[in-house]
Amino acid sequence: MEQRIAAIVAGMTLEQKIGQMTQAEISSITPEQVRKHYIGSILNGGGAWPNMVKHSTAADWSALSEKFYQASISTEMKTQIPVIWGTDAVHGHNNLFGTVLYPHNIALGAAHDPVLVGKIANHTAAAVRSTGITWVFAPTLAVVQNPRWGRTYESYSSDPQLVRAYAKAYVEGLQGNLMSANKLRPGQPMGDHSALATAKHYIGDGGTFHGADQGENRANQSDLINIHGVGYFGALEAGVQTVMISYSSWNDVAARKNYGKMHGNRELITNVLKGKLGFDGLVVSDWNAIEQVDGCARAHCPQAINAGIDLVMVPDDWEQFISQTVKDVQAGIIPISRIDDSVTRILRVKMRSGLFAKSPILPQANPAAMNELDYDRDLAREAVRKSLVLLKNRKNTLPLKRDSNILVVGIGADQIDRQTGGWSMTWQGTENTAADFPNATSILNAIRQTATGTVEYSADGTGVDVSRFDVIIAVASEAPYAETKGDVPFPQSLQHSDRYPADLAMLNRVSGKGVPVVTILLSGRPTYVNDLINRSEAFVAAWLPGTEGQGVTDGLFLNNQANSSQDFQGRLPFDWPGAACPTASRSSILFPRGYGLTYARSRQVGRLPEKRAPDGCAIGAN
Ligand code: GLC
Repeated sequence: MEQRIAAIVAGMTLEQKIGQMTQAEISSITPEQVRKHYIGSILNGGGAWPNMVKHSTAADWSALSEKFYQASISTEMKTQIPVIWGTDAVHGHNNLFGTVLYPHNIALGAAHDPVLVGKIANHTAAAVRSTGITWVFAPTLAVVQNPRWGRTYESYSSDPQLVRAYAKAYVEGLQGNLMSANKLRPGQPMGDHSALATAKHYIGDGGTFHGADQGENRANQSDLINIHGVGYFGALEAGVQTVMISYSSWNDVAARKNYGKMHGNRELITNVLKGKLGFDGLVVSDWNAIEQVDGCARAHCPQAINAGIDLVMVPDDWEQFISQTVKDVQAGIIPISRIDDSVTRILRVKMRSGLFAKSPILPQANPAAMNELDYDRDLAREAVRKSLVLLKNRKNTLPLKRDSNILVVGIGADQIDRQTGGWSMTWQGTENTAADFPNATSILNAIRQTATGTVEYSADGTGVDVSRFDVIIAVASEAPYAETKGDVPFPQSLQHSDRYPADLAMLNRVSGKGVPVVTILLSGRPTYVNDLINRSEAFVAAWLPGTEGQGVTDGLFLNNQANSSQDFQGRLPFDWPGAACPTASRSSILFPRGYGLTYARSRQVGRLPEKRAPDGCAIGAN
């Protein structure tokens, strides 16, 4: 394989090499432009669909992939090089209309089940491949230190060892036999229902100061390795083929060495990742991230390429990037050896993916794709149930009897987007209605399908005579968000009801009236909810469960057989804050990582202090 690659590279012009190092967005490039400019890769951003038709079918995705693929192998190059398509399938194939959305990573972290994670990756690969795509920008290996970060839910846990185990399981699940085959016969492509994985975002994305997205990680070298680097050991061990660089920067304050933005960090990308760790796949930049490197512009950054980035995600300005970079090489600013290394890595990964062997398009009619959805639904439902963490359960309020008369309150019970969060049909997970999730089950509908007594719904609990009910199920929730838009910027407090006062108002209307309240919190992060917990007899952290709401009711109700109940197994993947402005001291922690009640092993949670921080947090708080 290596000789074959060297021969292809030797036969390429400079324009063809730089085109191969370019990744453009499908809404900003046509198949003909991919052919004309020798483009190596395309992506669909969150909220981009074929021809910008949101309800495109798998066949529509495949048809577009076929067009890009055919164009890419119709150049006048000596050897045709197929284009590769990458997508953010971070909790299922989340841009595909009608698909099953799994719980986000924070929920999977609560399940503490690497086998489950491997199965989810395996089914995600099958779903992505059914649309002609062979590369997934996952798993995120951030080891989040501060829940202020808008991407906390994309992290499995603050426990590096759990992230390492999950990294290995996810990469092996997604890439299938790739590495074992390659050990036997190098170049042996991965299977038809596998996809390339991406270890991201290298390195230290989850450890920025105050959890600011794209901010500064001030860890010392030991913590950078032993906290933020551990997931990469798992991913590399599993043979991950691509690594995406982090927007964040590293300032090793202890060593008085400020490396600046990761996208310009030659020491960590080339010397450590490619050198010491022996990574032989490709390094891809993040969305327009090269513009953040000192002295760089959105379409022009020799520093990033000289740092070791092989494929540049320059979604819209790809033409300018190519012409600028060709000039940089001609002027000797970027050595041709660096370019040849990048192209060699890109070709190596494409050969391993099977793209050189045959088209990425699979026959649509294959029966597996048809009931793939059923498998996915059951798997997702199991994942939801396993991810639920029971934080409080006074007077054995849970499990619920199916014949209870139930009042359900909270818009989170009825709005699917509160279950699915960001990266769901759109980038932010907003601008969606129930019609965008035709196969989803809301928590309210799951309750209606499970309970045999009366079930009534009120968005906010006004004007309801609660005495008519045996139990109240209240769903508190965060609105969907992704990346920076999800940050809780310092000095704002981490109190949920400061950002969502309607949830506290709702509980004030229905609690304390002699009818037990079971509160379900839908959130992308642990937050300060002492006030909500005090107004609940039982309290469950359900994270962002995705489309399968029945997984929540599976955890709440006695199931059919002989009134046995599936006990809770979820345990907190992060410390749960006991203050509106958590500090580094353990007194800020209400429930430590690993906490989770079960029916077998319960404990009382008494009245909790309710100390707001309406004017925000003081310096010194996290
Ligand atoms: C985003 C994210 C990254 C994602 C990429 C492509 O900005 O940082 O995780 O894979 O762009 O959508």
